Amino acid sequence: MKEKGLEIKNQLLEDIKSVNTLQDIVELKSKYIGKTGVVTGLMKNMKDYAPEERKEIGQIVNVIKTEVNDIISTKEKEINEAILNEKLNKEKIDITLPSKKIKRGSLHPMTRITEEFEDLFVSMGYTVFEGPELESDENCFQKLNLPKGHPARDAQDTFYLKDEVENFLLRSQTSTAQVRAMEANVDKGPIRIVCPGKVYRRDEDATHSHQFMQIEGLVIDKNISMADLKGTLEVMMKKVLGEKTQVRFRPSYFPFTEPSVEVDVTCFKCGGKGCALCKQTGWIEVLGAGMVHPDVLTMSGYDPKVYQGFAFGTGLDRMAMFKYNIPDIRTIYGNDIRFIEQFDRKDED
Ligand code: PHE
Repeated sequence: MKEKGLEIKNQLLEDIKSVNTLQDIVELKSKYIGKTGVVTGLMKNMKDYAPEERKEIGQIVNVIKTEVNDIISTKEKEINEAILNEKLNKEKIDITLPSKKIKRGSLHPMTRITEEFEDLFVSMGYTVFEGPELESDENCFQKLNLPKGHPARDAQDTFYLKDEVENFLLRSQTSTAQVRAMEANVDKGPIRIVCPGKVYRRDEDATHSHQFMQIEGLVIDKNISMADLKGTLEVMMKKVLGEKTQVRFRPSYFPFTEPSVEVDVTCFKCGGKGCALCKQTGWIEVLGAGMVHPDVLTMSGYDPKVYQGFAFGTGLDRMAMFKYNIPDIRTIYGNDIRFIEQFDRKDED
């Protein structure tokens, strides 16, 4: 029996040389330890031996069986390992390759300039107050002292909705938010707000667009004077356009303020010496402002004998054009990514 075992083992060691795949292993298993395999055959022959021999023969057969099993499973392991290694080699990732650069976006210049104004005013105790772009004629004009038929309405020719909503329009100025803020304030106490937002007029050329952005400020309190207005605007302009900027008031007219002023700043390009940008005057007009008209206060429930206020409004597009050197207002709304990319956040790093 021992010789038989040795013979089987040698045969197996010979056979195993040509085993390369898992399929070969399956065949090998069936040849040796399968139902009709040679080792299994040895067990079946057990009955041919005398009962006293069987124990010893059984032990020998078991040793053969274990040896054969070990040889086959070692080979099977080798093959499995080889398969895995080949797979790992094929699917290898080169982690030393540089990764794809993720492009950082940039804020649109209008978002930037709006946030700059908002941050400044919030730091001075104002709140940001926004109104709807679709407004009533009443809020856009009547409560700002421009009754129907008032000639000053022409300067703000805008987009009206027809027929059933005849009294609604796309607001032509953010001053409408001032009316809303005064009316919403039930205590009729002090107000300090800035109102940024889109407004609409029937314009379109290099410096005027049918839709643009304004920011207005409104302060209502006791003992408010033109000096407060001037101080506030000086701080605002120095912060936005540079510390050397000076502010000049010129008398003007707005129906909702009295007295009214137009405000110029020293040209930030030439510092006031005179250049092409300021048309050699040294000054650039930047906003309209004034003391809130007593009738406007009265119409929104304030007593002008107790409360005074000032208001100002400026075009954010114009500010952005000055500040970022944008020659044509239409590029601001052109949605060209190359334009916006010029305002990346390099300077904030
Ligand atoms: N609303 C005015 C405009 O659009 C500007 C302005 C605001 C003037 C507040 C005076 C006071 O031209």
